[in-house]
Amino acid sequence: MSPELKGKVAIVTGASRGIGKAIASTAAGLGIDLALAARQEGPLQETAAEIAKKYNVEVLTVPCDVTKLQDLENLVNKTKEKFGRIDILINNAGVSSQYPFEKQPIDDFEKLAHTNYLGYVRLIRLVINDMIQKKSGAIINMVSGSTLCDPVPRSFIVYSSLKVGLRAFSKGLFWELRDQGIKVTSILPGVTDTDLTGKLQEVTADHSRLMTTEAIESAVRFALTVPANVCPLEIAVINQQTPWTAPVIPYKQDHPKS
Ligand SMILES: NC(=O)c1ccc[n+]([C@@H]2O[C@H](COP(=O)([O-])OP(=O)(O)OC[C@H]3O[C@@H](n4cnc5c(N)ncnc54)[C@H](OP(=O)(O)O)[C@@H]3O)[C@@H](O)[C@H]2O)c1
Repeated sequence: MSPELKGKVAIVTGASRGIGKAIASTAAGLGIDLALAARQEGPLQETAAEIAKKYNVEVLTVPCDVTKLQDLENLVNKTKEKFGRIDILINNAGVSSQYPFEKQPIDDFEKLAHTNYLGYVRLIRLVINDMIQKKSGAIINMVSGSTLCDPVPRSFIVYSSLKVGLRAFSKGLFWELRDQGIKVTSILPGVTDTDLTGKLQEVTADHSRLMTTEAIESAVRFALTVPANVCPLEIAVINQQTPWTAPVIPYKQDHPKS
């Protein structure tokens, strides 16, 4: 537990499983009280019960679809009603999909944009004025190691280009708010063993190359515990060995067989 963080309050989106669940546990281990959000109530409550039992912190669950503005407003309101404050926002909810662009369902674009970009920006907008008023706050955005690749990896161009936009937004937000005492950190994970990657082909073909969530937990712990006058702007934690994060993506990489 960290004495400076004990009693602080964090919202974590996409907290029911995968990276979100792991980093919510990390925050709880530092003594931070939590408001956990995801769409499906059952898994969210199971995760909350597990965390509350293991760490001596308060855990609120708020079912929330980050693509819906009303749900985001409700998340912020419920968190303030219960705790009276929001010190940390961990924007993590995300979806992925792997398609050659010409075969990607048109509905996918809206879902990706609303979940992986707009959901993040809107939720920040809803908490930022309280943070500015207090002259303190920390925002962590789950970006992606795929943003390190130029061109972005084929068959993921909509997902990855939105993450590139999110990364640019996060960096800009830090520069805009740094004098207001607010930290903004982007985490760029490599290919991590979660349900999200389980749905992808190609990149998970060699399972031994996948990271566990542990490295991302360390990155979040680092971001939350650096001295007050320091802000880790970006932390990239990528796989030692994977075609996904090779310095130069071979652009002739084949499409997955469908
Ligand atoms: N895994 C990787 O290799 C990897 C690499 C780079 C970046 N990332 C990023 O890391 C983040 C977490 O990914 P993950 O691998 O942990 O995925 P995951 O295992 O599929 O978990 C996704 C979480 O987000 C929630 N979620 C999805 N859509 C949502 C929505 N519209 N509103 C609210 N919650 C929603 C899910 O719960 P519900 O379904 O119940 O809503 C779940 O809790 C994502 O932003 C992803 O892009 C992952």
